Amino acid sequence: MPDTGDGRWFREVLGQYPTGVCVVTATQQEGPPAGFVVGSFTSVSLAPPLVAFFPDKSSTSWPKIQAAEHFCVNILSADQEHLCRQFASKAEDKFVGVGTRPASSGAPIISDVVAWIDCDLESVTEAGDHYIVLGRVRELGIETASLPLLFFQGGYGRFAPLSLAAPSDRGSLTEELRELDIVRGEMESLACDLSSRCVATVVDDDELVVLANAVSPAAGDRATLVGVRLPFAPQNGSAFAAWFDDERQQRLLEQLPAGEARERERQQIATVRERGYSVGLINDAQREFATALHQLEQDPTSHGPKSLRSLVEQLEYDPIELSGEAKKDVRVIAAPVFRKGGEVALAFTIYGFPKPDGAVDQYVDRLLEATTRASRLLGHET
Ligand SMILES: Cc1cc2nc3c(=O)[nH]c(=O)nc-3n(C[C@H](O)[C@H](O)[C@H](O)COP(=O)(O)O)c2cc1C
Repeated sequence: MPDTGDGRWFREVLGQYPTGVCVVTATQQEGPPAGFVVGSFTSVSLAPPLVAFFPDKSSTSWPKIQAAEHFCVNILSADQEHLCRQFASKAEDKFVGVGTRPASSGAPIISDVVAWIDCDLESVTEAGDHYIVLGRVRELGIETASLPLLFFQGGYGRFAPLSLAAPSDRGSLTEELRELDIVRGEMESLACDLSSRCVATVVDDDELVVLANAVSPAAGDRATLVGVRLPFAPQNGSAFAAWFDDERQQRLLEQLPAGEARERERQQIATVRERGYSVGLINDAQREFATALHQLEQDPTSHGPKSLRSLVEQLEYDPIELSGEAKKDVRVIAAPVFRKGGEVALAFTIYGFPKPDGAVDQYVDRLLEATTRASRLLGHET
């Protein structure tokens, strides 16, 4: 595309560079607080601590913020795209329905943002049709451990780590990747033998991370879920939870309301431990979840953790009685691979196999054969 001289080419080229999305807020002496979206926020200096952003000269919010002489930069999370639209609008009061608390400058900190930086206005410099605004940091904090909202080529998205060894509070997954390398062959022949898909997952804090993917040529395309993080819940995590120690199991169960639901879960976990594997049954949520997984294969940013969690929580799984009728509904089977010492290293989950009518026991046997062999390869003695 040639340079048309109307700024489109300038925008097109600079739109190749991604930015985060912030809402700069300030209080006014009269009227509702002021706030507007900026993608131009950047850190500038550590000593003294300075940050900057670039308001358009046409912004009607900027003069209000300038008058306040303080502002708070709120880094939006990937789940706050709606707030981005709200604060990029020209609405009179952009704070309707928005939870806030005051920073020490008085400027609003927006609830559930990733982080906030509260500043005194340091300087304003003209730069073409924008200003360069420097703020001196008074105080700053991380609000939630969520991913930031990103803006790129005119659309919104979230960060998807490219590396499998995604960092976590526990450090990286190097150990699990090493183990995976040892058992990968078992996983691949399992997928081939059953004309199915098999994923290897590990638990990382409160998430299940897909570390590897094996697909039988008969099971269709080779799209991959590797790197996808799913919320860890009893529904999709019992192949791990059933072998947790009592204390960790208790903590997991306490996330469920006390009473019937928790008691049923306790029994299901005990059943999985006794059976040696976990099953997921077909229902509407399972269908919806399968669609979501398919979309995640195409685009890892297509579903946020909250929407995935609500889907996972509706899955039907691990009936106490696995009758012949229930077996026909089995669509997912997962079993643990143990490392030396008996801890669960990872789980193999098979899905996408031909309809199980009567064959589920064979699938289970083949899966347990693979996980037993894989456990032995990792030094686990049965
Ligand atoms: C992703 C995104 C990034 C933006 N970045 C900036 C920016 O850096 N500077 C700016 O002045 N406006 C930016 N805007 C536009 C302003 O948010 C918008 O024009 C402003 O909120 C209009 O309202 P106002 O008149 O209340 O300022 C951005 C908008 C979006 C959606």
